[in-house]
Amino acid sequence: MVYLAILTLHNLMRWVTLVAAIWALYRAYRGWFGRRPWTPADQRAGRWFALALSLQLLIGGVFYCLPDSVAQLAWTNLNVVMREPSLRFFVVEHSVQMFVALSLTHLGSALARRGRQDADRHRRAALLFSVSLLIAFAAIPWPWTPHERPLVRLGWKW
Ligand code: HEM
Repeated sequence: MVYLAILTLHNLMRWVTLVAAIWALYRAYRGWFGRRPWTPADQRAGRWFALALSLQLLIGGVFYCLPDSVAQLAWTNLNVVMREPSLRFFVVEHSVQMFVALSLTHLGSALARRGRQDADRHRRAALLFSVSLLIAFAAIPWPWTPHERPLVRLGWKW
């Protein structure tokens, strides 16, 4: 029950994360190509994106402690996990790729803050957030990928 509730939360938070990413990217590219000044709203957009990814990391980390999660196998049966593509995807590939995406988002936010000119700030945010979103997007278990999971999970259904 707890497991399903957390899985549902992780599933739905995916949409919050993607919306935050698109908003941060929109502001960064608009600022870069529109030669706009860097504003606190631009900084906030990047922070929301990083925050949403960080929450996903937190929830994802909980899976490694829950007995019903496939991630639990990481502690007991790593050999089996590495040989089975679907298990390997969730336990290793998905988690590592998301961690890289999160690091790039924090880096983008920090570098943008330190840029000397507004154009540099927008450019740094735009480039690093773009790579981060691409990596995160590719690591999501979309229904059309081999490791398919539902687009929207409702807590009481598997
Ligand atoms: C480093 C951060 C993350 C870790 C460690 C992590 C870990 C996991 C694990 C272990 C699962 C499988 C759970 C299970 O079936 O028992 C999972 C599923 C999933 N993750 Fe993540 N995750 C992370 C970040 C993200 C992010 C950033 C997104 C999307 C923006 C995301 C989207 C999903 C989705 C959609 C599922 C399938 C949920 C479902 O079955 O309904 N994850 N994650």
